[in-house]
Amino acid sequence: MCGIVGYIGHRDAYEVIIKGLKRLEYRGYDSAGIALLNDKVELAKTKGKVADLEAMCATTISNKGKLGLGHTRWATHGIPNDTNSHPHVSNSGNLVLVHNGIIENYDALKQTLLKRGYVFHSDTDTEILVNLIEDVKIKEKVKLGKAVQIALNQVIGAYAIAVFDVQKPGEIVAAKLGSPLAIGVGEKEYFIASDASPYIEHTNKTVYLEDGEMAIIRLHKSLKIRSIKNDNLIDPYVQELQMSIENIEKGGYDHFMLKEIYEQPQAIIDTFRGRMKADEGIVKLSGLEDHIEKFLHARRIIVIACGTSWHAGLVAEYIFEDLARIPVEVEYASEFRYRNPVIFKDDVVIAISQSGETADTLAAIKLAKQQGAFVFGICNVVGSSIARETHTGAYTHAGPEIGVASTKAFTTQITLLTLMALRLGKKLGALSNTRYRNLLQELQLIPAKIEKVLAVSSQIEHISSLYNHATNCLYLGRGYNFPVALEGALKLKEISYIHAEGYPAAEMKHGPIALIDENMPVFVIATKKGHYDKIVSNIQEIKSRNAKIIAIVTEGDETVKGLADHVIEIPETEECMTPLLASVPLQILSYYIALQRGCNVDQPRNLAKSVTVE
Ligand code: M6R
Repeated sequence: MCGIVGYIGHRDAYEVIIKGLKRLEYRGYDSAGIALLNDKVELAKTKGKVADLEAMCATTISNKGKLGLGHTRWATHGIPNDTNSHPHVSNSGNLVLVHNGIIENYDALKQTLLKRGYVFHSDTDTEILVNLIEDVKIKEKVKLGKAVQIALNQVIGAYAIAVFDVQKPGEIVAAKLGSPLAIGVGEKEYFIASDASPYIEHTNKTVYLEDGEMAIIRLHKSLKIRSIKNDNLIDPYVQELQMSIENIEKGGYDHFMLKEIYEQPQAIIDTFRGRMKADEGIVKLSGLEDHIEKFLHARRIIVIACGTSWHAGLVAEYIFEDLARIPVEVEYASEFRYRNPVIFKDDVVIAISQSGETADTLAAIKLAKQQGAFVFGICNVVGSSIARETHTGAYTHAGPEIGVASTKAFTTQITLLTLMALRLGKKLGALSNTRYRNLLQELQLIPAKIEKVLAVSSQIEHISSLYNHATNCLYLGRGYNFPVALEGALKLKEISYIHAEGYPAAEMKHGPIALIDENMPVFVIATKKGHYDKIVSNIQEIKSRNAKIIAIVTEGDETVKGLADHVIEIPETEECMTPLLASVPLQILSYYIALQRGCNVDQPRNLAKSVTVE
């Protein structure tokens, strides 16, 4: 959470930073700030969004310096207000710092600094850190880089920081442990950011700092990377990124979420491109092939993930057990990491994360590795912490997902997991050649079938308008459609703030049925393949309690049409691919309901795209 942008070079730092903060706003958007250095330092910070900061700067900032730091915040320590916003300035006024993460031993550090006469104006851990660095700098009579290093060795927690010294213009020091930090290397200029999107139009050359590394970034000098622990010099590894500017802009859509919903057919094609040749019966994922023995001899697969990625993991449980006959357990990373789990050396762990930065998933991966498990990562963000921390893995190639509500990440994760299950199922003999080939052919047709679902979005928009005043909703599905129900409910609650529950349809009569009355819209995924008769019975039970029923059905279905208040048709597909189609109308429904309720679709309250704190 929180986005950091820094710049040092020949451009107007203000322009670079404000634009960059807008691109990073998905990481947190409760307050924003900027500090610019020229002959003096100018600081502006405010509760609210980057647009509020921009408005404030129009009247308060005159200094168009060539060095600066900016921050967009998702509050951890201290409520969102002007004072708690970053950047934070040390007591002398010399050091200016932005931070993403949490300093866990902030209180002990604060007590020491208080005794040494420091005063604090905010409730943040960041203000403690900037003063700790200042204290070290003065006490040890060292330069900024050394002071940062000594201070960080006293810190427990997670951080990505960038700091400059007003007395020494021309230098920014950055450091990372647990939170992401990228450095863009341009011609006589450097960019610092939580991801590469703020500077992609200026340079595609990027150095991702590793945990425990710090960078001394000086104008007209080469980039120096050092180990925070032992000061060793580390050769910067400069990567050339493929990201393009079009990918991170709205491209004519009103919201990123809508754009990303519509990008799903292409994102799925991009995910299987070069990995699947359906006509030749070939599936080849190099990360899987290189370690296939681990999977073939796995005692079980454990999936770890959070949120929507966890729902994709639940779909994986059905797919791997169904197609490859490998036992699967799906764990919330946040529970797994703290519950002393039994992990065998022949377990294969699959970690799923769009951002590749989720703190709980990252910690769960480290735990699994410590206990000897082999970890395969499925990430969307190239070069992310999880992609680097896992033994091997595969990228989803969905392209940047900016809307906080995950959409194309979910369907591309399922696509990738399906490819893996198909490959393993074939190799293990769990799938006949004919079935394997039929499934490949069907997977190839999925993007076109999603296009057909997208084509009925105006019908879905109309249905949304009938239920946008609901206060509670129920989502039901069975088998492969149970995770879809969970995902549908999550989409609705996170962007429209309507309470929604996803449930396995058969569990309804063990409790939730008590909630059902004429005021409760019930969304049921009732596709032909997948316990159809059973779900029809569930629909009868709901109908007899007068709830409104909105059903996702297979094209041409007449039975459910006769029972439900509304049906949304999706094309027929293999049961194991139903989630790829059935999740799409539910995304569109949530989008329109949130929009009609006047909610901020791309930046829902209290959330952030990348959850880098536990
Ligand atoms: O980046 P990750 O996939 O690891 O993120 C996990 C969750 O934070 C994420 O899926 C979250 O639940 C989304 N807001 C759901 O739309």
